[in-house]
Amino acid sequence: MALYPPRARIWWREPIAKTEIVWIVIAFVWGLVMFFMMIYWHAEGKQNLSNEAYRITPEAFFAKAQAMVSAHQVREEGGFPVVKPPPGSDVYMLGRLWQWWPILELERGQSYRLHLSSMDWQHGFSLQPVNINLQIHPGYDMVVTVTPDRAGEYGVVCNEYCGIGHHTMLGKIHVVEP
Ligand code: CUA
Repeated sequence: MALYPPRARIWWREPIAKTEIVWIVIAFVWGLVMFFMMIYWHAEGKQNLSNEAYRITPEAFFAKAQAMVSAHQVREEGGFPVVKPPPGSDVYMLGRLWQWWPILELERGQSYRLHLSSMDWQHGFSLQPVNINLQIHPGYDMVVTVTPDRAGEYGVVCNEYCGIGHHTMLGKIHVVEP
């Protein structure tokens, strides 16, 4: 078997079948719909948060998180410090192999600037059960403004594969009544 060049030299100038045109139009229009849905969901949906990102070294981020823990730790839970920072303040949670640290305790109805960063590799910050997902990279301080609207216990799950202990990489946020 051998490969031959197309018989006509201008091989792309063929008439297009009507059904093919129809499918091209459908696919194009659907692509446009999905493109505008991204913008719509960002504005109307509750899962695509507007974030800010700043460059920071893991050491500098750790120092900020540690300072918050030292100033506002209220108790310990399973070896993790539980931190209750004042409403309206900057709060920090760091991802590292394999934990989200520390545990935060926030008040319902109050806003916080939540800073997230990684100490080593890429991790996924997945807040459950509300299903808010962010990718967390080393070297970047990801900031989202959060206002918890329901009291309860929220889990943080890592949803980017980050090695042998990935499935154990969990964290926690308590939301308490003011
Ligand atoms: Cu961290 Cu998977």
